[in-house]
Amino acid sequence: MTNPIMVAIDTADRETALELAGAVAESVGAFKVGLGLLHGPGPGLVGDLRDLGRPVFADAKLHDIPTQVERAARALGRAGARWLTAHVAGGSAMLAAAVAGLADGSDGTAGVLGVSVLTSLDAAALAEVGIDESPEDLVSHMARVAEASGAEGVVCSPREITIVRTAAPRVAVVTPGIRPAGSEAGDQRRTATPQDALAAGASWLVIGRPITAAADPATAAAEIAAQINT
Ligand code: C5P
Repeated sequence: MTNPIMVAIDTADRETALELAGAVAESVGAFKVGLGLLHGPGPGLVGDLRDLGRPVFADAKLHDIPTQVERAARALGRAGARWLTAHVAGGSAMLAAAVAGLADGSDGTAGVLGVSVLTSLDAAALAEVGIDESPEDLVSHMARVAEASGAEGVVCSPREITIVRTAAPRVAVVTPGIRPAGSEAGDQRRTATPQDALAAGASWLVIGRPITAAADPATAAAEIAAQINT
């Protein structure tokens, strides 16, 4: 089985990011970089991380008119991203533009992951911006649009894995909010253990602080990888 751990490298600078990634590379399947690093050190970091021997997920959360998103996706593909995120809320034409731009920039080897509904949005926050669907129904809706637009996967909370699997059976399911038994939840509210998330149908597990904030990140990553394999 491919190692399903995407470690979230959420550090402040390039040097710390590369050091951390190098320390945990052996025990993870991919590196994820988010907005802080993509807008700080910049997309050049994507290629540098990939050179450490693991594919890189650029969590760029693109959301703009299709032309702009296509350009950004092409640039991230050229930078070496194996996956990037785009908000499904941007619509099917925008998602299809992300898929096309990324395919072009990466010579067809990379895929788009559609962000379904941010876990920071509950029913009240959705109603505030005029969306009356429940978060669960909206995730199901978004998953269908992502699949129909050519996305490789969908990002959702562990609680919504089954909803995405049912609505869009052909896409990969990528889930953050993973907490090994006994670890701190931090600001995550809807969490699952790695084993439970995989049993529910997750393809990839985004894991940040349980690895990156550990006293010894390499050992923490190795322990989680071993738990998954047993
Ligand atoms: O440290 P932790 O394991 O909570 O990190 C989770 C990672 O997943 C972070 O990089 C965070 O930005 C990302 N993420 C999330 N919840 C979402 C989408 C992405 O926690 N709904």
